[in-house]
Amino acid sequence: MTAQASAAPETAAPPAAGEQKKLWGGRFTGKTDPLMEKFNESLPFDKRMWAEDIRGSQAYAKALAKAGVLTEEEAATIVDGLSKVAGEWQAGAFEIKSGDEDIHTANERRLSELIGSTGGKLHTGRSRNDQVATDTRLWLYGQLQLIRAALRELIAAAADRAEAEVDVLMPGFTHLQPAQTVRWGHWLLSHAASWQRDDMRLRDLMPRVGTLPLGSGALAGNPFGVDRRFLSQELGFEGRVCPNSMDAVSDRDFVAEFLFASSLHLVHLSRWAEDLIIYSSGQFKFVQCSDAYATGSSLMPQKKNPDALELIRGKGGKMIGNLTGMMAVIKGTPTTYNKDFQESWELMFDTVDTTYDCVRIATGVLSTLRINPDKMLAGLSGDMLATDLAEYLVRKGVPFRETHHISGAAVKLAEDRGCELSALTVADLQGIHPLFAEDVVEVWDFNRSAEMRDTEGGASKRSVLEQVQKLRAYLADSC
Ligand code: ARG
Repeated sequence: MTAQASAAPETAAPPAAGEQKKLWGGRFTGKTDPLMEKFNESLPFDKRMWAEDIRGSQAYAKALAKAGVLTEEEAATIVDGLSKVAGEWQAGAFEIKSGDEDIHTANERRLSELIGSTGGKLHTGRSRNDQVATDTRLWLYGQLQLIRAALRELIAAAADRAEAEVDVLMPGFTHLQPAQTVRWGHWLLSHAASWQRDDMRLRDLMPRVGTLPLGSGALAGNPFGVDRRFLSQELGFEGRVCPNSMDAVSDRDFVAEFLFASSLHLVHLSRWAEDLIIYSSGQFKFVQCSDAYATGSSLMPQKKNPDALELIRGKGGKMIGNLTGMMAVIKGTPTTYNKDFQESWELMFDTVDTTYDCVRIATGVLSTLRINPDKMLAGLSGDMLATDLAEYLVRKGVPFRETHHISGAAVKLAEDRGCELSALTVADLQGIHPLFAEDVVEVWDFNRSAEMRDTEGGASKRSVLEQVQKLRAYLADSC
């Protein structure tokens, strides 16, 4: 194939009198099937990116002037015209016309209506391929900031409660079986730790989203020497530019990565929600959701259901579906731009909205939740101190493997007698091992059990408060 054989795909044809000509319509003679028209259009959803499309175009007009393709006056006319188009969107006055295929064609069509033929110079050297990638990155970059701000409020709410309620003890579970004594604040911070990782992931992702594809043209690059570094600075991407024009129009990793980071966050939120659903059940009664986040039953008057938490848990499933959908859209597409990619915007919009809503609802649930410290305390049982009993003998020099068996024998004795482990007498214990002494009764203390775990990250009050401080330091530092 010769170089001449590849026709320019997107030359703007002047609109014929009385009819709305397509921007790419020059080489077409036949009409588009109305069903195809609808099937092809993305404006119903990508109009959400109108502001970014205009910002990108204003920067591009300036870059064209810098490259000597437009005069300063022409660029100023385009920038002003685009501000007017933005004003119409802002006021809800933008009129969508048939043939407005997507946000790019709609804005350009309106610009030319407002400023005349100079509008037709804006798209010089640009393709919707580098344009759509630029708009999407700009849009998602802004949304990441909003989502992170909301996520950080959730983390701060967990830190505040953990500090205020640091004295509240509760049973910690493994396999959902009572395991050891922890603090309510320790549990809160266990989830905040996963949310902190989620925030770090979004932070790490930001520069990869905020990298500029514009100036890549349809695939081969820009023939007018536009300054891509200037464009990147102008659009807030700090000089980062996509390194290869073919990859720039092809790459949707940033969407997939965001969908993964959000899905994992929702997976974390679903586990947190599940804990609280269990803790708020009639069998536990550790916590109660405030009326603001619960609903009743249409049949059973006594019911108060933790719907907000169940919805968060369910939406996590939907997010995984969006991620899977996105991966499947990208998979197997040949290099550079393919229309398949248009399918990614709705997945992205839905994921942004769902993530943002879930985070804010979670913050509401968390900060209004009522806790019942007495029920938590009542959930602690003597056998949860069996490890502490083994550790008592460790401190007297008995190897842990042996003390594990010795403590197990004590548990068995209590079970056979039908009493609590802590109800065994010193004499009973001495019958199992001679190194048990009078001070063994100190082991039967749940607070002491938590306090013994005083290493970094542990359940002691000091350690939990230290975790609060570290989390706050992270929040203060890493905007
Ligand atoms: N609406 C399209 C999208 O979302 C814009 C890019 C169209 N490019 C093209 N060569 N047809 O992907």
